[in-house]
Amino acid sequence: MVCLGNICRSPLAQGILEHKTAQNGLQWMIDSAGTGSWHQGEPPDPRSIAVAKKNLIDISGQRARQITATDFSNFDLIFAMDQSNRQNLLQLAPDNHSKKKIRLIMEELHRKRNKDVPDPYWDKEDGFELVFQMLDEAIGQFVEKYLNHAKV
Ligand code: 4NP
Repeated sequence: MVCLGNICRSPLAQGILEHKTAQNGLQWMIDSAGTGSWHQGEPPDPRSIAVAKKNLIDISGQRARQITATDFSNFDLIFAMDQSNRQNLLQLAPDNHSKKKIRLIMEELHRKRNKDVPDPYWDKEDGFELVFQMLDEAIGQFVEKYLNHAKV
């Protein structure tokens, strides 16, 4: 799960996916990262921690990191939170095989309304609430699709 800073959106996406896979007995390797390095080593934004906690998900132990070249070989799928993240990932991807792993998280929804998970960094708390709801819906459909077809 990849966003810009790895402190607002992608930590929530990581926490939600970990929660849903655990609920369904799936043992996946899940992580998140930022395309930027400004927040390296920091915990998630307190507003992300709060909205996750409200939904019974604990993301407080996560620490921000920047995406690395090895992530493209270690993971089968790499989800970008918005189109700008996706563009940056496409530029960072070491080869064509890696490029094919990159997806936009909101495109997992059958009924797409928004392509981008909006960056809530400069928002108030309700921006984080919206991000949580969008990610919960998109990731929910992704996991459901996997469980129904065993192929994503
Ligand atoms: P994120 O949000 O990409 O969802 O983690 C941001 C966090 C920090 C900054 C930008 C976006 N920043 O400019 O520091």
